[in-house]
Amino acid sequence: MQIIDGKAVSKAVKENVKAECEKLKSQGVTPGLAVILVGDDSASQVYVRNKEKACEECGFYSEKYALPASTTQNELNELVDKLNKDSRINGILCQLPLPSHLDDKEVINRIDPIKDVDAFHPVNVGAIMIGDYNFLPCTPAGVMELIHSTGVDVSGKKAVVMGRSNIVGKPMAMLLLHENATVEITHSKTQNLSDITREADILIAAIGKAKFVKADMVKEGAVVIDVGMDRDENGKLCGDVDFEDVKDKCSYITPVPGGVGPMTISMLMKNTLTAAKLQNGIK
Ligand code: GUN
Repeated sequence: MQIIDGKAVSKAVKENVKAECEKLKSQGVTPGLAVILVGDDSASQVYVRNKEKACEECGFYSEKYALPASTTQNELNELVDKLNKDSRINGILCQLPLPSHLDDKEVINRIDPIKDVDAFHPVNVGAIMIGDYNFLPCTPAGVMELIHSTGVDVSGKKAVVMGRSNIVGKPMAMLLLHENATVEITHSKTQNLSDITREADILIAAIGKAKFVKADMVKEGAVVIDVGMDRDENGKLCGDVDFEDVKDKCSYITPVPGGVGPMTISMLMKNTLTAAKLQNGIK
């Protein structure tokens, strides 16, 4: 078994983005990212801080908008409108989840698709569906990079995606399909779950249940990717996969932390760079 080093793969992606950013700067363009955070969810605060740090590392311009939990939908919409028009800003990211009185969908739909570096806007989701896209959603794209780093060929393999969220499960299945995997998506109503996961050459866990995936659910020699960010019974960060139980059964496995997490941010940087190029007519 080999552990996939998400930090190392993420660093390589960021170094590439940084080099590309320097080239853009020499042409008078500095990629700019605006991050909006509403309320005081502590996990979201950590994610946003890491995104700002990554912008600095890559040489990007960044703006952070930390708004109080009492922010109204109108105020949030007006901020998005302002950022849509701001030529220094190439990418807009509104950290989800929003406080319950605000509508995620309304914000996502309001972001100009060309600045939608999360690839959550219906226009970008549709573009991904037909395989003709500018941006890939950050977490699924990061997972693909991790799979590529193993050298395992996805084509013709059986891939099982556990979870059907719009952010991870659904687009994840589409990216695997684009690379010619035979894909099955499982969810909370799936029957005989273990029978399905045990057939997977590539198993992606994105269900949000701490240490849910056990060795008896995994095929011998499978590539196991853990998208979970959960807390175990002691409050310690862990994934959807019971790492200690599963590790000796797979060929490759991602740890939590240090697996998929760092990749999501690197892919956001990559999307922001792409956005800056697109908006300035640079190939
Ligand atoms: N919350 C959890 N993951 C994400 C993400 O990828 N993008 C945004 N905007 N919010 C999130």
